[in-house]
Amino acid sequence: MKKKTTSSSKSGITSVLQEGRVFSPPESFAKEARIKSLSKYRKLYRESINEPERFWDREAREELVWFKEWRKVLQWKAPYAKWFVGGQLNVSYNCLDRHLGTPTANKAAIIWEGEPAEPGKPGEERTLTYHQLHRQVCQFANVLKRNGVSKGDRVIIYLPMVPEAAIAMLACARIGAIHSVVFGGFSAQSVAERIHDCQAKMVITADGGFRRGEVVALKEKVDEALELEDTNGTTLAGSVEKVIVLQRTASDVEMQSGRDVWWHEELRQVDTSCPAEKMDSEAPLYILYTSGSTGKPKGILHTTGGYLLGVKMTTKYVFDIRDDDVYWCTADVGWVTGHSYVVYGPLANGATTLMYEGAPNFPEPDRFWQIVDKYSVTIMYTAPTAIRAFMKWGDQWPKRHDLSSLRLLGTVGEPINPEAWMWYYEVIGGKRCPIVDTWWQTETGAIMISPLPGTTPTKPGSATLPFFGVVPEVVDEDGKPVPKNTGGKLIIKQPWPSMLRGIWGDPERYKQTYWSEVKGCYFTGDGCRQDEDGYFWVVGRIDDVLNVSGHRIGTAEVESALVSHSKVAEAAVVGRPDEVKGQALVAFVTVKGGADPTPKLREELRSHVAKEIGPMAKPDDIRFAEALPKTRSGKIMRRLLKEIASGEEVKGDTTTLEDFTVIAKLQGEED
Ligand code: WTA
Repeated sequence: MKKKTTSSSKSGITSVLQEGRVFSPPESFAKEARIKSLSKYRKLYRESINEPERFWDREAREELVWFKEWRKVLQWKAPYAKWFVGGQLNVSYNCLDRHLGTPTANKAAIIWEGEPAEPGKPGEERTLTYHQLHRQVCQFANVLKRNGVSKGDRVIIYLPMVPEAAIAMLACARIGAIHSVVFGGFSAQSVAERIHDCQAKMVITADGGFRRGEVVALKEKVDEALELEDTNGTTLAGSVEKVIVLQRTASDVEMQSGRDVWWHEELRQVDTSCPAEKMDSEAPLYILYTSGSTGKPKGILHTTGGYLLGVKMTTKYVFDIRDDDVYWCTADVGWVTGHSYVVYGPLANGATTLMYEGAPNFPEPDRFWQIVDKYSVTIMYTAPTAIRAFMKWGDQWPKRHDLSSLRLLGTVGEPINPEAWMWYYEVIGGKRCPIVDTWWQTETGAIMISPLPGTTPTKPGSATLPFFGVVPEVVDEDGKPVPKNTGGKLIIKQPWPSMLRGIWGDPERYKQTYWSEVKGCYFTGDGCRQDEDGYFWVVGRIDDVLNVSGHRIGTAEVESALVSHSKVAEAAVVGRPDEVKGQALVAFVTVKGGADPTPKLREELRSHVAKEIGPMAKPDDIRFAEALPKTRSGKIMRRLLKEIASGEEVKGDTTTLEDFTVIAKLQGEED
């Protein structure tokens, strides 16, 4: 038996802990900065946490347009917060109408670059000014109404990265419908489960989307989702009455009469006038499903006033957004980053937001840099996993293009290892551009910990200091603060405006998951340490959630997908460090009697997971085992599996292990 002793430095985590470089804000930035010095930041920050009501009252007045003033800034009865109680506003009004009649009206709101249909062909492009976007949102909002959607109804949006995704979101917000965007990579099964959970009345989809020159058959998956049944034979997605289909790929699709209608045909039936509904500050804006530590995804609920204030202010301060910026966040609208920083944050600021439909390396690995060059992108916000992939593909790809328009870079989604940070800084940013490493979550709605460019000195790998109103703390098992430079759990001690308001339909799980670790505090699920300067270094999830290429994947979800296969008896899924993806998924599987653990079965299981959840949840490795290591009480010992998956020597406590031979066999499997 061979034992490997690689340390976790492969993932960058060890080296993060040793990082000592500090980068001062570039002078050009510091001169123009909105917050001109660290002491000014500290003063405002102190006000925001010591007198939150005063701070947020002022900011809400300054940043947003309200139809009605609030009676109370914050009503906090842990774990439930209400912000701007009694206030009324509309998100779509704040993103669109408020810019009409100003010079912003005829500025590009969305610049969209499509994926080239085949190599060698240029991608399509479209620009929508604020005026045009407003018109299209109003029209589509009327389409929603015409098809029976009203205030409070849930609408699933399952679209590729096209401007219509933003239009659909804003149209829902305009009439007070609650959208739930489902990433186009999710399977029919996942779509059906989400529809069922929020009892959606409508699905908005497309005939297809382009991905690496192939067509992703979205409508077909919706059709399949609408047919699926639960174990009792009841249709899962029975609440859906209407499906609106956008024509994107001109693929053949079946249209079910009475249920399915074409987006473009519906537009002909409506006019362009649609007043924005006056929404309560606490009215739900959207539900976004994210993985947790059980097999069932959680519907994270965000509401109107506090969320919009959070995304508007963070976009303004963290991205230093200016009138002449071309801002590009590469996230898909199916994830929270796409909600907050492709659509709502930039539009609320009257900025130009760039949307790209396709993959970073199609047709070639310079696709991103070609886009930066073509549109003179000034601010770029992407994920460490993408940066690590670009590093691997080589400097020759970015070097082919003029990237001198860039002035600010951002990262999100996972810890960034200093090597990747330095590459981003030097090769992409030409050592001119500050990097904002932004820590936040689907649940937090907006950026929570991040440098302010021009203000905060940065250290590669640290998200640095908290944003206004955010009170993070690193605590031990008992919820007590740990000394500086000691690892612990990251919690947030005070409510903040863009925080989640609950898990759709599951108040118990909301309390249990987020509010039961430390009384009255929000538990993030992340491990963290604070250094001697008070900088936060988030190292990653400490619950049973993995972060694979910046996607949150619950190990329990993948396990339940695996055991739903007829040949699988038991499965345990753990993460191992991966140089590009951050973490890779390793599944330990025992098969049922009579089944052969063959390479063919391995492939079959990977496809099965793709079908049950989506291709991003496919295990990277499947290891067949005769048995899984369990405690005498029958609990799978995941810590041991993690060590085995990472090729580490098993050094953890094995005293409760039921059968010692299991470990030896599992390690043998590796070779
Ligand atoms: C991780 C994405 C380190 C973290 C906005 C968090 C990060 C999870 C960072 C949320 C960062 C996000 N540094 N880790 N800058 N940003 N994470 O809900 O583990 O998809 O809990 O939201 O990503 O992922 P989610």
